[in-house]
Amino acid sequence: MHDDCKEITELILKAAEAAHPETDGGAEPPYAQAVEWPVSCTVGPGLEGAIACESSVGYVNGSKGWLIYRGYDIFDLCANSSFEEVSYLLLHGSLPTAQGLDAYKRKLVSYRHLPHTMRMLMGFPLEEMNTMAALRLGTLMMRQKQTFRDEEYGRPDVSDAIGSDEDSIPMEIPPYGEPQAIYEFRDGPGQARDATGLESCYHLISGVATIAAAIARIRQGKLPLEPDPELGHAANFLYMLTGRRPTPVEERVMDVALILHADHGMNASTFACMVVASTLSDIYFSVGSGIGALSGPLHGGANEQVLKTLHTIGDPKRVKEWLNNARAKGQRVMGFGHRVYKAYDPRARVLGPLARHLTCSNKEVLPLFEIAEALESEVVSTLGKEKKIFPNVDFFSGLVYSCMGIPAELFTPVFAVSRVSGWTARVLEYLENNRIFRPRAMYIGPFGKKYVPLDDPSRGGK
Ligand code: COA
Repeated sequence: MHDDCKEITELILKAAEAAHPETDGGAEPPYAQAVEWPVSCTVGPGLEGAIACESSVGYVNGSKGWLIYRGYDIFDLCANSSFEEVSYLLLHGSLPTAQGLDAYKRKLVSYRHLPHTMRMLMGFPLEEMNTMAALRLGTLMMRQKQTFRDEEYGRPDVSDAIGSDEDSIPMEIPPYGEPQAIYEFRDGPGQARDATGLESCYHLISGVATIAAAIARIRQGKLPLEPDPELGHAANFLYMLTGRRPTPVEERVMDVALILHADHGMNASTFACMVVASTLSDIYFSVGSGIGALSGPLHGGANEQVLKTLHTIGDPKRVKEWLNNARAKGQRVMGFGHRVYKAYDPRARVLGPLARHLTCSNKEVLPLFEIAEALESEVVSTLGKEKKIFPNVDFFSGLVYSCMGIPAELFTPVFAVSRVSGWTARVLEYLENNRIFRPRAMYIGPFGKKYVPLDDPSRGGK
C-alpha cells in the first residue's frame, strides 16, 4: 500500500477506536435473530419498526451506531478491504478467495464498456436533465443491452440492419405475427440470461459507475471516456468522471466512500428496489426505482443539500445564528438525523476525519469544512442532546467528493454507484423466498357518498 494511504487506514482505525467504547456495551435489541412468522411488532408511520423480511446481508444497530455487512464490522472493512471485495461479499455472502476476487474484478472490468447504452443515452439532452434522472434513464437503457428479440417466432434478426443504433427495437411486427414485443435475457446468442440473476447484478454494479461518470462528462461538454481496464473500480470511476488519473490517496478515499455507502438495511431506496423486484419485474427496473428513491433530499439527495447549506451559512461565526433561525422556522438541517441511528453514524465517523484530511491541502474546500465542523458541534450540542440527532453519512461525503473535483450535482449519483451493490444483494436474497409486498393503509375517509353531476350547483369541490 502507498505510504500516503496508510494515513487513511490509520484515520479509520482511530475512528473505530473512538466508536467502540461508546457503542459496544448494552443488550441487543430484539429481532437481531430469525423471526417466527407471523410476527408482532410495533409499527409507526412510514413503516417505522415494521419487519418485512429476514436478511443476512447487513445489520444496522441504531442505538449503538453499528453497521455490519454479512457479519463484518464497517470499520474493519473500510480499513482492510476494497469495494470490489465488499460488493462480492454482499452479493455472495462470504469474502472471495484470491482467485474468486480476481475473476469478479475481471467481470466488472468487462461490464464497464456499455457502447450500446452509451449510444442511446447520448441521444438525450443530459445536460438539461437532473443527474439522478439521467442516471435512472441510463440504468434502464442498460436493460436493453440484455434484451434480444425472440427468435422462436421466426422473426429475422434485424440488428445488423439498424447499424446506426443496434439497440433500436423494430416497431413493425406484421406480417410475422402479433404486434407484441417479446424479449429474452441472454448472455449472448444461444445462452439464456436471467435478468434477476447474478450476472445482471455484476452488469449493474459496474455499469452504473460508467453511466454516472459519462453523465458528469457530458454535462461538462466533454465526451465520455473509455474505461481503463488497468484501474480498480474506484480509481476507474474517478478517472472516467474527472478525466484525471486519481492519486493513490484519492483512489483509497473513494474506495472507502464506496464501501461506506454500499448497504444500509431497509432504507427507502433499498425498499423501493425490493418492492419492484417482488412483483417479478426485473432487476434493472428494480434498481431504476432505487435511483428514483435515492434522489430525494430526505435520502441520498441530502449530500448535495449539505453543501448548499454550508455555502448559505458562509462563515463559521454565522453557524449559531443560522441554526437558531432554521430551528425557529422548523427547518431540518441537512446531513443530520436518521430514522435508525440515535447514536453517531459510523459512516460519518469515518468520513469526517477523511474530509478533514483532504481539506487540509485544499484551499477552496477548507473554508466549507470549517463551517461544517462548527455546524456539527452546534447541532450535536443542541439537537444531539435534545433529540439524539447527529451527523449522518451525507454530512461529510460532499466535502470529500468536492476535494476530488466532483461537482455537487454528482454527489447523489456517486451514492448510487455504491448502493447498487446493496440493492442488488438484497433483491437477490429477497427473491429466494419472494412474496409480493402489499402493506395496507388505514382508510379514514367517508363512506356512502352519492355521485353529483358536474353541472349540479351542489357539487362544490376544489
Ligand atoms: N434537523 C432538525 N430536526 C430534525 C432533523 C434534522 N435534520 N431530523 C429529525 N429532526 C427532528 C424532527 O423535527 C422531529 O422533531 P419533533 O419530535 O420535535 O417533531 C424529531 O427530530 C424526529 O424526527 P422524525 O421526523 O421522526 O425523523 P425521521 O426518522 O422521520 O426522519 C430523516 C429521518 C433522515 C428523514 C430526518 O432526520 C431528516 O430529515 N434529516 C435531514 C435529511 C438527511 O440528512 N437525510 C439523509 C439521511 S441518511
